[in-house]
Amino acid sequence: MAALLSAMSAPAIQPTKFSGVFTDGVRLYTTNSAPGSAVYGERLVSFDGCEYREWSVTRSKLAAYLRNGGRRLPLEPTSSVLYLGAASGTTASHVADVACRGTVYCIEFSPRSFRDLVTVCEQRPNMVPLLADATRPAEFAFAVDSVDLVYQDVAQKGQAGILAKNMKAFSAPRGMLVVKSRSEDVSREPREVYGMVRRQLSADGLKVIETVPLDPMEKDHAMMVVEQA
Ligand SMILES: C[S@@+](CC[C@H](N)C(=O)[O-])C[C@H]1O[C@@H](n2cnc3c(N)ncnc32)[C@H](O)[C@@H]1O
Repeated sequence: MAALLSAMSAPAIQPTKFSGVFTDGVRLYTTNSAPGSAVYGERLVSFDGCEYREWSVTRSKLAAYLRNGGRRLPLEPTSSVLYLGAASGTTASHVADVACRGTVYCIEFSPRSFRDLVTVCEQRPNMVPLLADATRPAEFAFAVDSVDLVYQDVAQKGQAGILAKNMKAFSAPRGMLVVKSRSEDVSREPREVYGMVRRQLSADGLKVIETVPLDPMEKDHAMMVVEQA
């Protein structure tokens, strides 16, 4: 069970430059949109009348991106987000905390992970779970409006093409792509693979505005922030 620290023992939690993302100077936090409830065993901390969830940089690649100096987080309280590869909701739940007045559509194709995801979404009304294949946006278009951001972490080959297809299908101006180098080509250096992915995105009419390697938290992974060119 997650520890709920009292205000007495909690460190001072302050906003960062990113709306909805907080820090005590060392760790990252989001406000807990389901107070009293943790998603993956993270610490819950009360401070100044608000409950926060610690955002683990070793469990969430989005937190690792921020820890490694990511500067272009395209997420606002009202954002509508299509999240591809939600697994059991670890990062998606933090995205939903930040986009607290928006909607996070969570796509996952593994039935086992999806069961856990549904439990998380039941406590967070702005998370919509969809059991679907991210490579086939037409199959979940019935449930998803146009979105502000496509966030993708599917760890499979052809990551650039899947992002481009979904950004086009849902008229998304921005995307965040977790590139798992080893999923594209185990024999090539990650840096080469990142270059190849950037060229593929560019060929699909997308501009990479930031690339942040996620080592050492996530070896051979990088986060790319992209915009429609
Ligand atoms: C690395 S895990 C995602 C972790 C998650 N983003 C997080 O930070 O909490 C990748 C997930 O993508 C899912 N996935 C892979 N290919 C997919 C596809 N084509 N459609 C939907 N989900 C997919 C896998 O089942 C797995 O749960």
